[in-house]
Formats: sequence, structure tokens, C-alpha cells
Amino acid sequence: METQNKKAIDHRSPITDHFLNFQVDHMTLLVAPEMYNVAYALFRIIFGVKKEDIIYEKRKEWVKGQGEASMTFAARIGRGLVGGEALENTIVAVVQPSEPKTQPSHVRAMLADHNAAAHWQHIALRVPDLLAFHRYALERGVNFITPILKDADEDLIQVFSGEWFFPGSSPSGMFFEFVQRNPTEALLKKLEERNRQSWFRDKTFLGLYGEKETEYQKGNVTPFIDAELFNQIQNLLGAKKLWEITEENIRSAESLMVEYARRKTAGKNPHRRI
Ligand SMILES: [Fe+2]
Repeated sequence: METQNKKAIDHRSPITDHFLNFQVDHMTLLVAPEMYNVAYALFRIIFGVKKEDIIYEKRKEWVKGQGEASMTFAARIGRGLVGGEALENTIVAVVQPSEPKTQPSHVRAMLADHNAAAHWQHIALRVPDLLAFHRYALERGVNFITPILKDADEDLIQVFSGEWFFPGSSPSGMFFEFVQRNPTEALLKKLEERNRQSWFRDKTFLGLYGEKETEYQKGNVTPFIDAELFNQIQNLLGAKKLWEITEENIRSAESLMVEYARRKTAGKNPHRRI
């Protein structure tokens, strides 16, 4: 057991592992319906977003016959420089709770939980090798609320983490998305085979939206790491000042994570080892 942990840890270095290199791809802002259209105007005017820089806008008719509501738009507020056009855009996605007042809405709940008209919900970080990062994070007990998804419109694969909060606290409405742009054909094929059932989501925005809605309606929001693992790390480090946390402590915390994930995976798949 000890040897296995060591092996899992020793093979990597955060500085040299190329998949542990993150760049901000986009950020998603939740706003109250009262400011959705004003937010649109502010992006158009103050941030100089042209019509063609509104890279998507999704609508839904929640109640038949009542007409469509705009759920979200994404504004490209900055363009990549020559050579990095596709990968270096700066994008903000804006989401409003578009459901009728009589219907639950996780977006409305997240804003209400913060008593706020606007809330940064997730940051999408671009990685060069999403599969490698995903595996690395799973091996350390990180929870994801979706499998790796392929966007139907864009050349993009993505996965969404659980939310950041601690045992006993309310869900924070803050999580991470990890994306890889321009995946190769071979990678797409590999993912498609691995993920056959969940592959053909109509739109990844709606896929994520549905997952979050289910979590909030059930009152069972997936945390970034399980409460048990959180407590193990907190027991190890919680009494220290930040500057007293040693490299040895970090290695011990990582061992806890690897061991926790190994036990959890073994419990789920008794005949499979990670
Ligand atoms: Fe996103």
C-alpha cells in the first residue's frame, strides 16, 4: 500500500508535468434578471463587444406558448494576438435565471444564497492535456459532476468539478471547468469509445445546466473533494499557520488524497485498480 502511494506521487512534479499548466479560457457570471439586458449593453458598449463577438446566445421556452427567454450569452471581450487567435480569446459568459418564478432555478438559488445580484460561478481553465489532468485529479479524490463532454458547436472538450465548500457549510456556487481546445481526431475517438452514453449531449451548456439543476433540487451538491477527505486534510493542516505548512506536510496531504481515492475506487469497483 505504502509503495503504491509512493509510486503514484513520485512520478510527477507540478513544475514539469505539462498538463498542470492552466490558462483562463472563460469565466461565467450569474446575474439577476433585472440586470441581464443592462449587462449585455455594458459588454457591448464599455467592453467594446461587437455583435460578432457575442459567440453564443441560448434560449428556452420554459412554458409552451409563453415565448422564449434568453438563458445565457457569451461575449468575447478580448481577441488572441497573431498566432494565438483561437486559444487566447478572453470570454465572459453571462447567465440569468430564466425559469418562471414558479419553477425552481439553481441560478436563482446561487444568487439568493449570496444575497447578490451578480456572482462569479465558474472559471474555465484551459489545459494542454485534459485526459491527463482529469486522471491526475481523479487519482487525488477530486469530484467531477460530468464526464468529459464534447461541445457540439465548438472544437472543445470540457469537464466540470464539484463546488468549493467545507463540510457543514452551504454549497458556494463556485466551481471549476477544465477545457482543452482543438482536440485531435484520435483523442475524440478515444473519448467517444470511453463515454458512449454521455457523449452526444445536444449542448454542453444545457448538459451542465441540467446537472446543476438536479443537484440543487435534490439539495445534494457535489463538493470538490468529499467531506471525509476534506476533514483528513484539515486535521493535518488546520492548526498550522499557512507559512508553517512544510513540503513534507504537502506530500502527506497528497498521500491522504491518493489513498482516499484508491479506497473509494476500490470500493466502487472491487476488481479494478486505479
Ligand atoms: Fe463554462
